[in-house]
Amino acid sequence: MKKLYFGSNLKMYKGISATREYLQKLVENTKDISRDDIELFIIPSYATLQTATDCCDRDFVRLGAQNMCWEDQGQFTGEISPCMLAEMGLDLVMIGHSERRHVFGESDVEENKKVKAALSHGFKTLLCIGETAEQKEYGISAETLRSQLKIGFYSVSPEECKNIWVAYEPVWSIGVNGTPASADYAESMHKEIKTALYEIFGEKAEEIPVLYGGSVNPGNAESLIVQPSIDGLFVGRAAWDADKFDTLIRDAMKVYAEHNC
Ligand code: PGA
Repeated sequence: MKKLYFGSNLKMYKGISATREYLQKLVENTKDISRDDIELFIIPSYATLQTATDCCDRDFVRLGAQNMCWEDQGQFTGEISPCMLAEMGLDLVMIGHSERRHVFGESDVEENKKVKAALSHGFKTLLCIGETAEQKEYGISAETLRSQLKIGFYSVSPEECKNIWVAYEPVWSIGVNGTPASADYAESMHKEIKTALYEIFGEKAEEIPVLYGGSVNPGNAESLIVQPSIDGLFVGRAAWDADKFDTLIRDAMKVYAEHNC
């Protein structure tokens, strides 16, 4: 059976002590689950990263940053250097989250620069992609995802696939006003993504896990995780309570195992 990925982006929530408490509880809750079966990762806010790396047992939870500058240093006020993130010993960097693209106006070309910088610093690089409601309405979801992938991974070598993760997060599904994608719709987009990744990287693309995100909750996690092209769940609000996230992970694993035995 394949390894399942479960992760959460804490966005601009949870300060230093809340992050410490959350991570310690999450490790405690989940440490009996074999890490051969799951990859668990949390992406806290910048200001809490040092505390997170100090307090969290990294054998159980990988830690990442929510964004990153493509340059190592320079006149980039307010940005965070990949060297600084590497010095903290982070495992992964998320690039192109929907809120970076749609609240802060980041383009695919910028995401590509960040992807290349993150990979060159040895980070697992999680590229987030997703179509808007308007693009879905016009019937260009697959084209949108394909172009986000083609530009996002432009001039990235297939040898880097071992460090690439992708999250499919339709913009219309994210956050308190989002509508979760149905399992069938998510599966059809994941298939498109896997086909596009194969076109970009060839057979090495099989190494890339593709996670679904966008209003994942205890009511839909099980129907999503059993889809053959969904390799994991990238969870926002429903993961921010360590007990509830633990339950969601265990329930999803159970259903996945039953479905695949
Ligand atoms: P949500 O967030 O689960 O709260 O919709 C998902 C995300 O932004 O990654």
